Amino acid sequence: MIYPVIMAGGSGSRLWPLSRKLYPKQFLPLHGDSTMLQETITRLSGVQASSPVVISNEEHRFIVAEQLNQLGDLGTIILEPDGRNTAPAVALAALTLKHTAGEDAVMLVLAADHVIQDNTAFHAAIEQAIPLAESGELVTFGIVPTGPETGYGYIRSGDAMGDAFKVGEFVEKPDLATAQSYVDSGKYYWNSGMFMLTAGQYLSELKKHQPDILAACEASMADVSHDLDFVRVNSERFLKCPDDSIDYAVMEKTDRAVVIPLDAGWNDVGSWSALWEVNDKDQHGNVTRGDVMVHESNNTYVNAEEKLVAVVGLDNIIVVETKDAVLVADQNRVQDVKSIVNELKAQD
Ligand code: GDD
Ligand code: MG
Repeated sequence: MIYPVIMAGGSGSRLWPLSRKLYPKQFLPLHGDSTMLQETITRLSGVQASSPVVISNEEHRFIVAEQLNQLGDLGTIILEPDGRNTAPAVALAALTLKHTAGEDAVMLVLAADHVIQDNTAFHAAIEQAIPLAESGELVTFGIVPTGPETGYGYIRSGDAMGDAFKVGEFVEKPDLATAQSYVDSGKYYWNSGMFMLTAGQYLSELKKHQPDILAACEASMADVSHDLDFVRVNSERFLKCPDDSIDYAVMEKTDRAVVIPLDAGWNDVGSWSALWEVNDKDQHGNVTRGDVMVHESNNTYVNAEEKLVAVVGLDNIIVVETKDAVLVADQNRVQDVKSIVNELKAQD
């Protein structure tokens, strides 16, 4: 039995204007009919797993509860008053599971906003990871890189351990030149951002490398309140927790990490062009959603929420229409959508 732990507290700002502070991308049906969060859960069907533990922001509690309810499986929903990134989020889940299932509980930590196209390959990697996690390893799933992406963690594989490898080095979000040298070397994987580890092992690694985070999470869990299906941590204590990701706080520092290569059509749909890539296209490479007409255009992504949207003679363009905002962007500049969001935040 494994325990899915789903980190669902991110903001997804590069998918503006569809992804909003009040409704970030993990809660949207960006690929297929169900939402990214729901797909993260249904993708596990066939794996021997318990109900999920979902960690999210207080602000999104009803969205999470409704989406889990639609799947008929509420699981446990842990609420953060405000996100302190993924290291504390996973610590809250580990502390909860240690209490309910024991410290040997094997957690499968998942992001709520990834697409995986080959479930069979994904399930095989999960099965392969279980004994490694049970023996105290922190298992990562490595993707063969296709370019020098700077938004990912990079994993150098070391000595072989069966079909897995010891992690030689884990580097979170290197600069472009470093990322390029890693890709050129052919020795690095991208970190997929999914992990398998026991609750006890994670907590002891956190204690070793980031004791302040563990202490703040323990303090905030010592005083939880239960309300309907929600587990709410002590807000004042949790807000004192340092902000850090599991990648920087633990994975870069631990000597117990292993990597399992994963070739399963993984994509973290971090941008509009990534979303264009994973969706079905017409014969000219256009992806459309909603009430859309596309004429003599190639490789466009056109999403209409409220109005009829028609495009003529466009190549490599993203158009996203929503009730109160429209984005028109070059496919090659989609990373910069984040700057629009930052400017909007500054105006608030
Ligand atoms: N509960 C909670 N609280 N969840 C969070 C928080 C938080 O404060 N911050 C982020 N998350 C959730 C996001 O919703 C997402 O599902 C997941 O945690 C990962 O966070 P991201 O912010 O998307 O991380 P990233 O994409 O920059 O980097 C991670 O993923 C990459 C692959 O997509 C790292 O693990 C990289 O090493 C990895 O390559
Ligand atoms: Mg991400």
